[in-house]
Amino acid sequence: MDDTQLQTEDLAVGYGKHLVLPQLDLAINAGELVALVGPNGSGKSTLLKAMARLLRPRRGIVYLDGKSISQYATLEVARRLAILPQSHTSPAGLTVRELVEQGRYPHSGPLRMLTRQDHAAIERALSLTHMVALADRPVDTLSGGERQRAWIALTLAQDTPVLLLDEPTTYLDIGYQMEIMELIASLNSQHNITIVVVLHDLNQAARFARRMVVLNQGRIVADGAPVDILTPEIMARHFRINAAIYHDDVTNTPVFIPYQSVKSSDNGPS
Ligand SMILES: Nc1ncnc2c1ncn2[C@@H]1O[C@H](COP(=O)(O)OP(=O)(O)OP(=O)(O)O)[C@@H](O)[C@H]1O
Ligand SMILES: [Mg+2]
Repeated sequence: MDDTQLQTEDLAVGYGKHLVLPQLDLAINAGELVALVGPNGSGKSTLLKAMARLLRPRRGIVYLDGKSISQYATLEVARRLAILPQSHTSPAGLTVRELVEQGRYPHSGPLRMLTRQDHAAIERALSLTHMVALADRPVDTLSGGERQRAWIALTLAQDTPVLLLDEPTTYLDIGYQMEIMELIASLNSQHNITIVVVLHDLNQAARFARRMVVLNQGRIVADGAPVDILTPEIMARHFRINAAIYHDDVTNTPVFIPYQSVKSSDNGPS
């Protein structure tokens, strides 16, 4: 049985004259947790936005549950897929709870009367992100990490089978980073939610995802298990660092230690 849930076919996406993703084919299976990694500007956010239909492709198709995403009604996309954008702004004065309530709009009717089920989903999202005590605070008065958790709560309240998360751990202290990664892992393993998560911390990506997709200059340059991705060659070629790779027996995953940046002249002839 084909269990592809989200797929790009011959996808090209750009801004104005700038073609960021020239030609990209990627298939995400139902129940997968995929880490999307790559240097700044490689096109990770662009890919996530195209997969969420926030950007219109120049060419190619994004399939969601076997159907072109362009064929769905907007609310239907929002019931099937939620995206945590990399940067977000909320209207001045909007409280955390009001922000998180917006995650229920795809489920509530046109009058946006919240049902008991909606309220339960909102409370659950607030509680999973430890935002209950901050629920009545205006989002624009929160610290960077608190604000990030409020936006994660909004994404979770949407309660979709597919989650696209663009750098969910940015601004978070190491304790919250770990909690959010554990939450992501448990949503995937306990609730079978399909997740694509953009991460810059490659050790975290290797620890929590079974599949890592590396994007560089708009192309997929590597796609595989963490042991196939955390290699000295890929670290040097795509992330510009000389790194030592070790195996961590506790988590049974590869870990790397970056030693120095690779100067472009060290790269040899390309
Ligand atoms: N709205 C936009 N208009 C014009 N160019 C854009 C726009 N958004 C992104 N770009 C360009 O597209 C390229 C890819 O950007 P994108 O945000 O997808 O990269 P990224 O891999 O998410 O990087 P980062 O790790 O810094 O978040 C970059 O060169 C960027 O400057
Ligand atoms: Mg980005």
